[in-house]
Amino acid sequence: IGPRGPLAMSRLLIRGGRVVNDDLSQVTDVLVEDGVVRALGRDLLPPEGAPTGLRVIDAAGKLVLPGGIDTHTHLQFPFMGSRSVDDFHQGTKAALAGGTTMIIDFAIPQKGGSLLEAFETWRSWADPKVCCDYSLHVAVTWWSDQVKEEMKILARDKGVNSFKMFMAYRDLYMVGDKELYAAFSQCKKIGAIAQVHAENGDLIAEEAKKMLALGITGPEGHELCRPEAVEAEATLRAITIASAVNCPLYVVHVMSKSAAKVIADARRDGKVVYGEPIAAGLGTDGTHYWNKEWHHAAHYVMGPPLRPDPSTPGFLMNLLANDDLTTTGTDNCTFNTCQKALGKDDFTKIPNGVNGVEDRMSVIWEKGVHSGKMDENRFVAVTSTNAAKIFNLYPRKGRIAVGSDADIVIWDPKATRTISAKTHHQAVDFNIFEGMVCHGVPLVTISRGKMVYEAGVLNVTAGEGKFIPRKPFAEYVYQRIQQRDQTCTPVPVEREPYKGEVSKLKPRDSTVGTRKQDHP
Ligand code: URP
Ligand code: ZN
Ligand code: ZN
Repeated sequence: IGPRGPLAMSRLLIRGGRVVNDDLSQVTDVLVEDGVVRALGRDLLPPEGAPTGLRVIDAAGKLVLPGGIDTHTHLQFPFMGSRSVDDFHQGTKAALAGGTTMIIDFAIPQKGGSLLEAFETWRSWADPKVCCDYSLHVAVTWWSDQVKEEMKILARDKGVNSFKMFMAYRDLYMVGDKELYAAFSQCKKIGAIAQVHAENGDLIAEEAKKMLALGITGPEGHELCRPEAVEAEATLRAITIASAVNCPLYVVHVMSKSAAKVIADARRDGKVVYGEPIAAGLGTDGTHYWNKEWHHAAHYVMGPPLRPDPSTPGFLMNLLANDDLTTTGTDNCTFNTCQKALGKDDFTKIPNGVNGVEDRMSVIWEKGVHSGKMDENRFVAVTSTNAAKIFNLYPRKGRIAVGSDADIVIWDPKATRTISAKTHHQAVDFNIFEGMVCHGVPLVTISRGKMVYEAGVLNVTAGEGKFIPRKPFAEYVYQRIQQRDQTCTPVPVEREPYKGEVSKLKPRDSTVGTRKQDHP
């Protein structure tokens, strides 16, 4: 992909900033040409000064970071009788204003629908509107030979290497264990990573009926019918199935302590599993479901829900800091108050989703780095590099190095900003982080070499972002998987056949199946 227009043809020199990658920070200049990083080094500016066409940006005292990668958005998503209000234009503008230079959204077919058609539909929505680069995960919402074949085509020809399976949303998107087994097996074969929305959808549907029967119709019912165990159970089930077929697994929107602990245990057990907390779960909590204002509470409704235990965000951040959890997204899926009001008499009808695409970087800096839980390098790892590695975008994205895309943020770690719906760049009329003061402010955002955000002003054109295809078999994920295939395949034991008599006991006899009978 070449330069992105006349502005990108001009060269940029970012001078004297502290360039932060996931493994190293160093004070150095960065020369950007034709949308990519051309050189890193001290004093790249010749003594006679800037030649024509070279724009010099003074970054002394500031951090120079890889642009953020938001692994999880739903822009203009038709969902629960509505369509999310931040579309691919407004949503990606807001992303850039917050220091995020790439998003990965989801193409989601209806049950019985074609995955390829869903992919093309989402491309047709996004391509003319996106202001930053983007990619697409595709959801598997049902199972058939056609789905299996289309997954192969998407991975081979269309740049999709991640497929999301919903274990919730019964009758809409939910698939059962048998389908999960089949989909995970296919992911493994085609070199994709399986993603799960981990919640027990059957349990939720039954418990929701119970809540409504009790007269609990408000947003608090949303959390009460799907407590932590519902998320933790599904998380463990998904890990168990993925492990059985040796498929890498990525758990999206990890919202509870219990689910995060399941992932941490599995990783310590050597499983190839990654957990993605989101800005909402790291920055706020589920006590809002009990807010006296209906519209306030409804704006926090998402699945899995935010947790009422107020120590949850800090706990998730601790796990993110120490690599029990790996990446960060937002699940940005925004609905205005009037859309949320579809569920004013029944919480199961409130369109699920929250904001985050603009605020993720600042919220994580505030709660993660400013709090002293993680350093600047871990910040880069969890906001871009790890995602780039898992989804096979690295080192083109997620790193500032010669040859990488010039997706760069000049970051002021000392400045503060107060998050508010009144000032944010998103279309939605509410912000779940309202009033939060965050250290860590993006001063300049550069997207493939173009200065798209500077001093609070966006300079973007709809459609100038690009679809970034992703190849299958990401080395970061698949090296271990393939090695295990070679070394861990069970071999049948060579043994003498049983030559004795076969028991004539009736099958219902209580002694059948005891050790003694099975191994006389
Ligand atoms: O509440 C949510 N999470 N809305 C978007 C759909 C999903 O499950 O990711
Ligand atoms: Zn989900
Ligand atoms: Zn989502």
